[in-house]
Amino acid sequence: MAHALSKIWAYKTWRQRIAIDDQGHYTMGYLSLPDEWEHNHLQPSLNGKSFLDVGANDGYFVFEAEKRGAQRILATDIYHQGRNGNTGGWNIEGIQILQEHFKSKVEILPKSIYDLHTLNEKFDVVLCTNVISWLDNMNEALKQLSDACNETLYLKDGFLTRYDPEPVLQYEKGKALVAFRANLSYIKEVLGSHGFKRFQVVPVISHRHFEWQMSTFPLVQSKQALTIFDLPDATSNSIQKICDGQWILAEEGDFCFIKNTGWVRKSEVKIAPRGQKSWMGKMIKALLSEEQYGDYIRRKGLEKYVKSYMVIAQK
Ligand SMILES: C[S@@+](CC[C@H](N)C(=O)[O-])C[C@H]1O[C@@H](n2cnc3c(N)ncnc32)[C@H](O)[C@@H]1O
Repeated sequence: MAHALSKIWAYKTWRQRIAIDDQGHYTMGYLSLPDEWEHNHLQPSLNGKSFLDVGANDGYFVFEAEKRGAQRILATDIYHQGRNGNTGGWNIEGIQILQEHFKSKVEILPKSIYDLHTLNEKFDVVLCTNVISWLDNMNEALKQLSDACNETLYLKDGFLTRYDPEPVLQYEKGKALVAFRANLSYIKEVLGSHGFKRFQVVPVISHRHFEWQMSTFPLVQSKQALTIFDLPDATSNSIQKICDGQWILAEEGDFCFIKNTGWVRKSEVKIAPRGQKSWMGKMIKALLSEEQYGDYIRRKGLEKYVKSYMVIAQK
């Protein structure tokens, strides 16, 4: 049976979770909250605006921008055909499947953040989330983003906060060969030098992601090799694999989808809920508003729970 969603279901390495119809079907990603757009403090309407997403990944934000009235929409990333990697490139297949599925006018362009100048085009709204901390030349990236922007830049990443208000760029071991992480004052200073005049900074708090993932995606509990299928209505092409401890990301009929692996018969798997948070943590969070909870986390030095900050810069 050729199902309308078969291309989406056969692609196994979705990262973003994107609504694909109004029947409650999503791409089988594990990121993107149901209200990811609002969670990132993006403007509700893009009526008539041009929109550029840099590091657009599987396309959550560009397809959402289209729904919100953007006129011209460009998705760039170091798209290629191959494996997904935060520094090496992102498989173009996912976003292309969705472009076709939505009959979308979104343009998809393989282009590094460092080459935005070759577009010779400026956009009203530019978005760049969770990209710059993977780069080895953040200053150049900020210049390129600024030059591509007419009006508003949304820049989200895991910025440092403990050194504010002094502008600081700190060497960070780990992610790449040479990685520097900036604090918020540094980012404002650099963007200010590229013509941005007004700034708003909002924490994007990670506990919502963790909780949503805990409650939405149970774990496989099975030491046995499971039979993996390409599609939920497949009868052949199966392989055997041990998937103990992996996440279940979707269900369809008698099948469920294991993260990055494929479909298995529900009758073959045992699943268990993921770990629960402490009663203390739950209580504190229930008592405080999201903003207060963010402040509490900062004061307690628990910043690893604040995933990132959204800097909204305006020219
Ligand atoms: C952690 S993901 C973030 C994806 C998306 N922006 C989001 O917030 O869900 C990092 C993305 O940055 C892309 N990326 C890495 N280096 C890049 C570069 N030099 N130019 C453009 N995109 C890049 C990766 O391919 C990947 O899609």
